[in-house]
Amino acid sequence: MIVLGFESSCDETGVALVQTRPGAAPRLLGEALHSQAEMHAEYGGVVPELASRDHIRRVLPLVRQVLAQSECTLAEVDLVAYTRGPGLAGALLVGAGVAVALGAALGRPTFGVHHLEGHLLSPFLADPAPEFPFVALLVSGGHTQLMRVDAVGSYELLGETIDDAAGEAFDKSAKLLGLGYPGGPALSRLAEFGDATAFALPRPLLHSGDLDFSFAGLKTAVMTQHRKLGPNVCEQALADLAASTQAAIVDVLSAKALRALKASGTKRLVVAGGVGANRRLRETLDAGAEKLGARVFYPPLALCTDNGAMIAMAAAMRLERGLAQGSTAGAFDVRPRWPLDELSAAAS
Ligand code: KG4
Ligand code: ZN
Repeated sequence: MIVLGFESSCDETGVALVQTRPGAAPRLLGEALHSQAEMHAEYGGVVPELASRDHIRRVLPLVRQVLAQSECTLAEVDLVAYTRGPGLAGALLVGAGVAVALGAALGRPTFGVHHLEGHLLSPFLADPAPEFPFVALLVSGGHTQLMRVDAVGSYELLGETIDDAAGEAFDKSAKLLGLGYPGGPALSRLAEFGDATAFALPRPLLHSGDLDFSFAGLKTAVMTQHRKLGPNVCEQALADLAASTQAAIVDVLSAKALRALKASGTKRLVVAGGVGANRRLRETLDAGAEKLGARVFYPPLALCTDNGAMIAMAAAMRLERGLAQGSTAGAFDVRPRWPLDELSAAAS
């Protein structure tokens, strides 16, 4: 089956063609992405109206690019998948509108995918791919969740953030340090030159005894330290604060993820979402998992942040299991959030 996937939930227009074959690993036939980061940087964050308009401008040229790359024609597409939510309404509408129009024109079915399920299943585009069951740490710009995954569509929430997401903690701290937008990659780059022990920052909920997270207080601690450094802060102190901030976020994420892994009895941890690209997080998790005789699976580095391939992949995997399309926006935000299928049945 050849699936054309569209992602347009926020500030990245992603289009990809994924081919699935029974009994064999899926193949990424082509992938193209346009990031709006530069456009939004001027405003210090995503401007929804600009995002929607830019998706409109980019999406069809990206489709042409993917078709050329993969040497496929639209006639060969079996299924058109798109991000159904959560995300910015106007931005989502662009991907959904194009996908539904293409599906109608080609006489092919369309399939809406929950954005987070796309992230969750993106490691199946890597080699080797994980096997079920596993524990997943989902760390994107808007969500931080730990879950047990027994199969496609069979998800149990183990813990999540009670306020800011880990990606938000990176982004907001980066903004405080004057590093601009998007903050995560900028902060982690600066952190490479800093001393992670220079500032004593809190590790919120580290010893809470559950698998929940809280990152809102960390940003306040970063702000306080930054203020103390004064307006003429030197580059090294800034790098030290960046490194200390990153260490605080990574310490909590990895401690809880490893605790969940231990408690689950499985030997596989999957990490997905933008923050999964963070090198220190990867190193800490890999080392911790090794001590437990376990292994950590990631999507290919380029597919950690938003992309069309994960959407095509998730659609193909749900369909192969005979599941309905993903739920609408917000389904992950209602307790109990899983299983998704019951929620999507209720929504349709
Ligand atoms: O999954 P994603 O692309 O979008 C959402 O679904 O939200 O994640 C974006 C988030 C942003 O908060 C960004 O700062 C963060 O992932 N991020 C990183 C890194 N690369 C992206 N955070 C820390 N280190 C990175 N290398
Ligand atoms: Zn995302």
